[in-house]
Amino acid sequence: MKDEVLVVDDEPQMLIAVQETLRRSGYSVTTAGSGVEALNLLKQEYFHLVITDMRMPEVSGLELLHKVKQLAPRTPVVLLTAYGTVQNAVEAMRDGAYDFLLKPFSSESLESVVRRALDSVRPKPEKSSHTIVTQDPQLARTIDLACQAAQSSATVMIEAESGTGKELLARMIHSNSPRSSKPFVAVNCAALPESLLESELFGFEKGSFTGAGVAKPGKFELADHGTLLLDEIGEMAPILQAKLLRVLQEKEVDRIGGQAPVEIDVRVIATTNRNLQSLVRDGSFREDLYYRLNVVKLTIPPLRERRGDIPLLVDFFCKRYGRGRDGIRIHPEAMEVLQLHDWPGNVRELENTIQRAVALSAGSQIEPGDLGLGEVQPSHPSFKHADLGLSGGITMREMERQLIRRTLQDTGGNRTRAAKSLGISLRTLRNKLNEFGLQDRAAKSAHSQAV
Ligand SMILES: Nc1ncnc2c1ncn2[C@@H]1O[C@H](COP(=O)(O)OP(=O)(O)OP(=O)(O)O)[C@@H](O)[C@H]1O
Ligand SMILES: [Mg+2]
Repeated sequence: MKDEVLVVDDEPQMLIAVQETLRRSGYSVTTAGSGVEALNLLKQEYFHLVITDMRMPEVSGLELLHKVKQLAPRTPVVLLTAYGTVQNAVEAMRDGAYDFLLKPFSSESLESVVRRALDSVRPKPEKSSHTIVTQDPQLARTIDLACQAAQSSATVMIEAESGTGKELLARMIHSNSPRSSKPFVAVNCAALPESLLESELFGFEKGSFTGAGVAKPGKFELADHGTLLLDEIGEMAPILQAKLLRVLQEKEVDRIGGQAPVEIDVRVIATTNRNLQSLVRDGSFREDLYYRLNVVKLTIPPLRERRGDIPLLVDFFCKRYGRGRDGIRIHPEAMEVLQLHDWPGNVRELENTIQRAVALSAGSQIEPGDLGLGEVQPSHPSFKHADLGLSGGITMREMERQLIRRTLQDTGGNRTRAAKSLGISLRTLRNKLNEFGLQDRAAKSAHSQAV
C-alpha cells in the first residue's frame, strides 16, 4: 500500500518538482494549486502526509495546517518556506507542523523529511498487538481522543456496533495509560445472569451464600490500579446499575456479605453496541449512571461506512494468518467481492473471512471462491438498479465497470456523489476509472451514452 501524499503550492513548477521526486520514491502524490483546492480534497480523502507552501493567497499554509489538525489529526504536515516566512514556519511547529523545508531544497532533503514524517505516525512495533488499522479520518480522530484520554483516569464509554474493535480500542487505551503495567480485566455484562455478574464484579466473603466456601475478590478488586472493561453495559440489570454507580462515586466496593467496603482505584471503560441514550429514554438504563460513564465518549464507525479500510485490513489479516506462507496474495476479483460486501459483523467478520480463506486457499493467492461470501449481497444499495442488464456469466470486474458507469450517469458525472453512492472513497473511484480506462471520458459521456 503506497503512502498518499498531498502537495500544495501555488507555484506550478514547485508542484511538479516535488511530485516527480516523491513519485520516484514510490509515493502516491496528489497535487493542489491552492489552499482552497487542498481543503476540498482533505474533506473527501485521507492523506498520510500533507506538504504545503507557507505563502499562498486566500488560504495560507498556516491556515491549512490548522485545518489538517482538525480534519485528520494524525496526518503530519510539512511546510515549504522561503527565507521571508521561515520565522512563521518555526512558530508553526509549535502549532503541530511536523517540520519545514527551506526553499530551495534538494530532493534528498525532501525525501528524508517525508520518510521521517511518515515514520513518526506509523504504529510502533511494540504496540503491534493493539494495532488499530485505519485510514478513516473519523476513526483516526477517535484514536487521537483515546490517546489523550489514556493519560487520565476518566471513565470512557465506547459506543459502536459489534465487531468494530471496541475491545481493541479499550486495550489500546490501557496500554497507553500510566496504568499499563497493572491488570486489564474484562467482564461481559451480557454473558452472565444477574446474581453471577454481581459476585463476579464485586466479589464475596466466605459463607455469604450457599456454595461460597471461600472468599473471592471481584473483578473490581482484581483490576485495582489497572483498567476494568465492562462490555455490553446496556445489558446490566437495574439493581446492578445502582451498585455500579455507587462504586464509581465512592471508589470503593462492597463484597457480597462483606463487613466493610474495600477501597479501589480502577479506570472503567464501558462498551455498548446499543444506543445507551435511548435506553435511558425508555427507562431501562439509569440516567445518573449514564452520565457517570459517559465522561469521554468514543465512537467507531461501522466498516461499511469506511470501506477504504477494507484493503488495509485485508492486507493486515493476510499477514497475520498467512504466517509461514510467504506473501499470500489476494486475487483482484476477491478484493472486489470484499469491497462490495456489507460486513454486518464488521472487522471481526472480515478477520474470520480472511482467516478461513487463507486456510482454504490452495495456492499463494486467495480466490473469490475461498471467501465463502457467496454472491455479492443483493441488499447492497447499488443493486437497486434492477435494470443493470446483468445476465449471468458476467465477471465481477465487468459488473463493477458497468456499475461505475451507470452510477456516474445517474449523478450526471459528479464523482463525489457517485463515490458516495458506491460506498467507496473518491480516490478509489478515481483509481477504478483509471484502471478501467474510463477516465474523464466516463464523466463526459455518461450524460448521453447508454451503458
Ligand atoms: N481497526 C482494526 N485493525 C485491526 N484489527 C481490528 C480492527 N478492528 C477490529 N479488529 C480485530 O477484529 C476483532 C474484533 O474486534 P473487537 O473484539 O475489539 O470488537 P468488539 O467491538 O469488541 O466486538 P463485540 O461487539 O463483538 O464485542 C479482533 O480480533 C480485533 O483485533
Ligand atoms: Mg467486545
